[in-house]
Amino acid sequence: MPTTQVASGLTTNKAPFIELQRAEGNIYIEQPYGLYDEQNQDTWRRLYARMRPRWEKYAHPKFLEGVHNLALDPDAVPRLEDINRFLCPLSGFSAKAVAGYVPAYVFFDCLRTRAFPTTITIRDGKLLDYLPEPDIFHDVAGHVPMHTDKRFADVLVRFGEVAREAAVMVQGIADKQQQLRHVESIIRGMARFFWFTVEFGLMREKPGSKNLKVYGSGLLSSYGEIEHCVTAPEVQRYPMQLEWVINQSFEIDHYQPLLFIVDSFDHLYELTHQLEQWIKAGKLENLAPCEPAISEADLKSFLEAGV
Ligand SMILES: [Fe+2]
Repeated sequence: MPTTQVASGLTTNKAPFIELQRAEGNIYIEQPYGLYDEQNQDTWRRLYARMRPRWEKYAHPKFLEGVHNLALDPDAVPRLEDINRFLCPLSGFSAKAVAGYVPAYVFFDCLRTRAFPTTITIRDGKLLDYLPEPDIFHDVAGHVPMHTDKRFADVLVRFGEVAREAAVMVQGIADKQQQLRHVESIIRGMARFFWFTVEFGLMREKPGSKNLKVYGSGLLSSYGEIEHCVTAPEVQRYPMQLEWVINQSFEIDHYQPLLFIVDSFDHLYELTHQLEQWIKAGKLENLAPCEPAISEADLKSFLEAGV
């Protein structure tokens, strides 16, 4: 018997099953539940146990309602099948297992069909605090509870519709260089909007209230940042301004120094409408450069979308 430890289980970046799926070019996969090992289950338990009291303190009430409605198990990595049994009747959404990175258009288009690309691996138990890529704790315990809310789910669908409009628009540009410039800028603008809302958004507890609640999934899945984002005096928190957000770069490897506040889910929905109008009016075609970087795969996904 070999004495060195062989990678097994479904640990982020160490899962042979995922490597195989990627090598075969698969984006959407099954969740092979039997592959989660005891360490993976223990990591989930520890992540959930320390996060729970912080959710109760800082998370938006709709998120807490979602955690309850999904019957998330504190003691076991969730089975997407079980999650979907509770989720689908509430908003029509489902969690769809993926092998890893999903190109931008494919991701947004999946939302349009009320499915959320969901990572199934779980972070290494030695790295509970920070992970640059999503894992099942970020996706299922950070994103999916919000999808139980109908209005929030409609926002995600709108994102998908906006992406489709954008793809139709850029595919109609004859000059290839101009086409590439415009599509890169539009994807960057959409990614920034998504980042400062769905991933790192804050919401007023009630309209006009100074109390803030967390609805962004990057915050909801971070034990340290969920508290820091609301309480740290050095964090800049400003009312949402679309023209600022789409031009604002961000870095993913540290706590966010700048966050934006929306008034309500209706406000968020209206903003996606405004984003669409601005894309149609050409306002996203020459945004401030810098982060996020847009990959070849992202560009290709918009230019080759079957729209
Ligand atoms: Fe996310």
